[in-house]
Amino acid sequence: MDPRTLLGLLSADATQSGSALAARLGITRAAVWKQIEALRADGAPIEAVASRGYRLAWPIEWLDLRRIEAGLEPAERKRFGAIDLRWQVDSTSSELLRRAPRDGADLQVCCAEMQSAGRGRRGRSWRSPLGGNLYLSLLKRFDHGMGALAGLSLAVGTAVVAALADCGIDGVGLKWPNDVLAGGRKLAGILIELGGEFLGPCHAVIGIGINLRLSEHDAAAIDQPATDLATVAATPPARNALAARLLARLLAALDRFAAAGFAAFRDDYARLDLLAGHEIEVRDAGGILRGIADGVDERGALRVRDGGGVRSFDSAEVSVRAR
Ligand code: BTN
Repeated sequence: MDPRTLLGLLSADATQSGSALAARLGITRAAVWKQIEALRADGAPIEAVASRGYRLAWPIEWLDLRRIEAGLEPAERKRFGAIDLRWQVDSTSSELLRRAPRDGADLQVCCAEMQSAGRGRRGRSWRSPLGGNLYLSLLKRFDHGMGALAGLSLAVGTAVVAALADCGIDGVGLKWPNDVLAGGRKLAGILIELGGEFLGPCHAVIGIGINLRLSEHDAAAIDQPATDLATVAATPPARNALAARLLARLLAALDRFAAAGFAAFRDDYARLDLLAGHEIEVRDAGGILRGIADGVDERGALRVRDGGGVRSFDSAEVSVRAR
């Protein structure tokens, strides 16, 4: 039986007994229990209420292609083509990277309810439990080589913040290169992976994970302070509406980036830059540098000022130093 059938019967408003669920599904109570345990192991927020049954810890709006498409303009829908909505996949980004050589479409989207091997930056994993968050990847093709893509991840960060603002979420900023933070905690992450030719046709797979609802268990397992939209906003946005705004903002940003590069985003980024003016520590292959964050250059590299002048970093780990 498809686990979605059982999930579809559960609600956050009413508790359903195991025997009522079994009767509705035509299976035994033991089979219901087994499925509930399997769904919980995937991260589904199912609570057991002593001697009364099961309910969802919070209402879940499942991803729905029609609702996502309803949030897009007809011209945007046309450009995205078929949006690939999955129940489960190892990683939405891995899926698009695998598909890139055989599907030449300019834009491709994959979105999933859960990821079994979600990936973060620098080889980290990205916890991707069922039914809580948004896991979305978008492939975009470019004509003029990977060198022209400097700063793309920062431009994408501004698009994510704009999509959140469209959904009524304010007070969100960016920590270079592209962590999306609210209240000093990580709300969303961006992973950009490039493929194709260094000097010719190439593609970027842009993977975005936004925390909508993190259980205490999941939040505790993340190796940095994390937050979710349910904490940041009185009412978290509907997932399908957020996915649609994210796609629309990404499309606009990618068009602008293809036409003018990161230079077109430098002012937007500066407005969202949470590091600027702070004492930071930058680690890269060359060692550790302590200095004051001084914005980014026209290619999106981080500028750090210290006694010796200003140095720029294309890639590094950055932490803010406690005062
Ligand atoms: C980060 O480390 O901050 C980046 C996290 C990116 C997570 C997203 S979720 C959708 C896409 N699929 C993945 O496996 N990773 C990205």
